Amino acid sequence: MSLLEQIDMSRLPQHVAIIMDGNGRWAKEKGKLRAFGHQSGVLSVRDTVEGAVKAGISYITLYAFSTENWNRPKLEVYALMELLVSTINRETKNLMENGVRLNAIGDLHSLPSKCYRQLQETIQKTSVNTSCTLTLALSYSSRWEITQAARSLALDVRDGNLNPEDINERIFASRLNTADIPDPELMIRTSGEYRISNYLLWQLAYSELYFTPKLWPDFRREDLYEAVIDYQKRERRFGKTSEQLQSF
Ligand code: FPP
Repeated sequence: MSLLEQIDMSRLPQHVAIIMDGNGRWAKEKGKLRAFGHQSGVLSVRDTVEGAVKAGISYITLYAFSTENWNRPKLEVYALMELLVSTINRETKNLMENGVRLNAIGDLHSLPSKCYRQLQETIQKTSVNTSCTLTLALSYSSRWEITQAARSLALDVRDGNLNPEDINERIFASRLNTADIPDPELMIRTSGEYRISNYLLWQLAYSELYFTPKLWPDFRREDLYEAVIDYQKRERRFGKTSEQLQSF
């Protein structure tokens, strides 16, 4: 039985978030430049997204560039931005064929204008698609996002449009970049690192975490399926007891 066939389709995670890590180490192992690792990582992105669509996963969110990544050597940042523009451009056709809607979260205005324009163009073009929403986290960090949300609420209170007593979790979440996206049930990180690294801190509150030693350029749809199968073996309790869950 294939890995895809082993997935229980009635308990599929709706949203899978991924930290794609290990491109640099993968390249180094091969005696190549880090940029080669990022380029090879694009093949993993394509296969994983196609695999997610095949499995019926509705949302996939990839950590493509963190706020902290701006501190990398200028040349690497430049290469990553160029890669993003060319990949998004080249993959638009593939996204259309697979019914994938592109979305982006993060401080998008801090991206080079070429990158921003390409992103908006493909987001616009793919907005009709309904099979899967692919969200790229770009110039993203969770603390930045949460701070933005707090600021937007504070401005509404200052302007008399919101009562502080009315602020609740639902309203707070509606000010996050992910307002229209359900929280991920599953978060995968590659390369054997066991950290969240400022990624979706609010949204991952109840997510199952899955760590694999595979470096991102070696990751393929079968690895996604293995993570989903592992997730389905776990019991999600949301603070309740096993007995309470069984009585439902
Ligand atoms: C982490 O590996 C990876 C990144 C910072 C960039 C991820 C980008 C891609 C896979 C390519 C473009 C993606 C899209 C969506 C078009 P690392 O460099 O931190 O690796 P290391 O930890 O081994 O140094």
